[in-house]
Amino acid sequence: MTERLVVGVGLRPSATPEALRKAVETGLRIARVRAGDDAVVTTLATLDVRVEHDAVVEVVALLQVDVRGFAPELLAAQPVSQRSPQAEEALGTPAVAEAAVLALGGDVVVPKTVGDGVTVAVGRLPDLHHHGDVEARAAANLVDLAVNVRPGGPPEWLRDRIVTSLADLGTYPDPAHAVAAVAERHGRRLDEVLLTAGGAEAFTLVARALDPALAAVVHPQFTEPEAALRAANRPVTRVPLTPPYTFDPALVPESADLVMIGNPTNPTSVLHPRDAIAELARPGRVLVVDEAFMDAVPGEPETLTGERLPGLVVVRSLTKTWALAGLRVGYVVGDPAVLAKLAAAQPMWSVSGPALAAAAATAGERAVAEAQRRAVDLEAQREYLIERLARIDGLAVVPGSRAPFVLLRGPIGTGPHALYDGLRARGWLARRGDTFPGLGHGWVRVAVRDRDTTDRFTHDLATLLHPPADTPERP
Ligand SMILES: Cc1ncc(COP(=O)(O)O)c(C=O)c1O
Repeated sequence: MTERLVVGVGLRPSATPEALRKAVETGLRIARVRAGDDAVVTTLATLDVRVEHDAVVEVVALLQVDVRGFAPELLAAQPVSQRSPQAEEALGTPAVAEAAVLALGGDVVVPKTVGDGVTVAVGRLPDLHHHGDVEARAAANLVDLAVNVRPGGPPEWLRDRIVTSLADLGTYPDPAHAVAAVAERHGRRLDEVLLTAGGAEAFTLVARALDPALAAVVHPQFTEPEAALRAANRPVTRVPLTPPYTFDPALVPESADLVMIGNPTNPTSVLHPRDAIAELARPGRVLVVDEAFMDAVPGEPETLTGERLPGLVVVRSLTKTWALAGLRVGYVVGDPAVLAKLAAAQPMWSVSGPALAAAAATAGERAVAEAQRRAVDLEAQREYLIERLARIDGLAVVPGSRAPFVLLRGPIGTGPHALYDGLRARGWLARRGDTFPGLGHGWVRVAVRDRDTTDRFTHDLATLLHPPADTPERP
């Protein structure tokens, strides 16, 4: 798990290459202790007007890395730990070194240090494209707790509907029927629904079709929304939540004209109150709520699918509850003006006929009732898992789990990947947490499974963390 590092740099016009080189070397030495000796530096980031500075040019050549310059407005929007009024006065941003790390998508591992006319911070770049399925494919011999798709595949009746739709493969897909069914399910008009090839396509459409001055992404959360924004070169700031990961709308910068948040949240499993999220909506801002796991919450008390607010759009997915990850189907409901922009950016026929058939089928009353029963069963299984985990000393479990997974961390001091690696060695594949921005090392996410699996898993986890006296090994 080689880490990628980024160096954030601030400097006075008078700074020398020598001073910058020294400060960067010190920062990287500390960063390697924290992120691993094999960590590689990919980029040096700074204020846009400093990219051509002699010292920057020289250090970039020495490290053989890319250089990125950011506008002061974007740096000013980053959630840095220290702000300097003098810098704000002189440069239009109260921070540069740490802010540049954050603007590039780094998690700060070495906070700002001050050298001779220079400041340096170092961050690690989480791999936003890492997903549990990649690991599951590579580790088919392990019990998969990394992927949250409901095990066992779609129910028989849904498979039948999909198979029946194959008779129409000779015609181009027409979403009208699915749009009508989804609109009816959520009490919306037809122009308030857009079918997509999964939630993932919705995020890409948001990133490509909108042109935000500042996109705020609430973290930790599913990484594709931010990955899509960065791929489209949109200016991003993160809104980092800290344990117990409850959401406070005041944390979102007023200047953000696009906000993306997940509810319930992957990977924390926390369900935010709908009112706290709705508070973010305002004219001139698009608010994207990812409710990919909302149908796993009985009664969906916090859903915003029925709410009409300016700029609000809600992303839903059929992937998890209906075990349709391979079909690629989801939808967006909300503000028709936003949906029209997303639709204009969507490739023709991007949602296939079988996917549309599944969307129509799962929007019906009986399907919704079945999803509700599944959600109630899942809740019981999750309570059982949480109760078993609570018996294991030293384990931290994020409280208030409401999704089909829980987020946990081993005892402090057991090393960054000890829990993940230890579980693997015992045949369990958890989802590593360190690729989620703001989460850091040590966390793993585990899917809720049946009681038998939970019994075996929690037994192995307990012996991993508390080996019997005659076993020398500890994580
Ligand atoms: C929170 C969250 N949102 C959206 C998605 C994307 O789902 P889809 O398969 O609909 O693209 C995922 C998939 O892992 C997810 O975890």
